[in-house]
Amino acid sequence: MKSYKIGVIKGDGIGPEIIDEAIKVLDAVSVTQGFNLKYEEMLLGGSAIDETGVPLPDETIQGVKKCDAVLFGAIGGPKWDNLERHLRPESGLLGLRKEMGTFANLRPAMVYDELVNASSLKPAVIQGVDIMVVRELTGGIYFGQPREYDANKSYNTMVYTREEVVRIAVVAFDIAMQRDKRICSVDKANVLEVSQFWREIVEEVAKDYPEVELTHMYVDNAAMQLIRDPKQFDVILTGNIFGDILSDAASMLSGSIGLLPSASTGKGVGLFEPIHGSAPDIAGQGIANPLATISSASMLLRYALGEATAADKIDNAIKKALSEGYRTGDLGDYDTKEIMTCSEMGDIVADYASR
Ligand code: IPM
Ligand code: MG
Repeated sequence: MKSYKIGVIKGDGIGPEIIDEAIKVLDAVSVTQGFNLKYEEMLLGGSAIDETGVPLPDETIQGVKKCDAVLFGAIGGPKWDNLERHLRPESGLLGLRKEMGTFANLRPAMVYDELVNASSLKPAVIQGVDIMVVRELTGGIYFGQPREYDANKSYNTMVYTREEVVRIAVVAFDIAMQRDKRICSVDKANVLEVSQFWREIVEEVAKDYPEVELTHMYVDNAAMQLIRDPKQFDVILTGNIFGDILSDAASMLSGSIGLLPSASTGKGVGLFEPIHGSAPDIAGQGIANPLATISSASMLLRYALGEATAADKIDNAIKKALSEGYRTGDLGDYDTKEIMTCSEMGDIVADYASR
């Protein structure tokens, strides 16, 4: 029987609750699809700080390299907010992304037909939305040098090298070829040199993909267009910070940020995580929506392990649970059969996925 080793980073806040449900679903499909998953837990973020004093322990850096893929929940919380920047949970996550070389962050934003009333936007605007945000993840202003914090003057630097832009553009064009063959590259080229550079390099890469239609948009306009007419987008290609912001905005098209997964891929082992955070305000109450993490587990099966049938089973199970009217509290106001706990939602999806 095929066997895979999955690194599991539960993290902080709702992280452990949502990861437990994703594992429940993974176990259910692996049994019926005939492969074996072995999990190895690793520490990151606040829980790592509490146990080891640092947000990204060496064992985690070494551990992830020995896995076939890594499933990650969420990190951070008020408990660790006042630590020095390099000791904060977020620095652990950024360091892990850099160490793993996961420069390409794929954030799909799709609207489930069953939830077309759950969005704060009108159904006609969002029905059928299917966007893939391709966010550059290990460069840009998040990592640019120099950077400085000082009482009188502080700064960060937005830096991109040619190599960094080329490789993320290639990922976006390859994805566009599998989809509707349209890319909108988002930047701020009317103001920033680094964006002008980005735009020129994306144009160069586009020459290798004559079938793909490439357009450019300034990030402020893109934020507006995402809300005004999201269906105009197929693939959005953008840098680290613009992608961070636009993917949160895009997530609300779907009705809840608790629904959307992400895959971070690049040089080696991939990292799969929900796009939402650790939600410390609801942690430990068992009410978090596990679907974004379950959906991330599906991306892990599809992209890292090549287990497409199992991934389809999970995707269909999520759709079935939603069409049957099952909802967690974040989706609760709409068409609701009953509001379920995190773990009940995991049970339902695991059951459907194993059929
Ligand atoms: C995300 C998060 C992270 C980011 C934070 C937690 C560092 O917002 O994955 O979108 O900014 O990349
Ligand atoms: Mg974010």
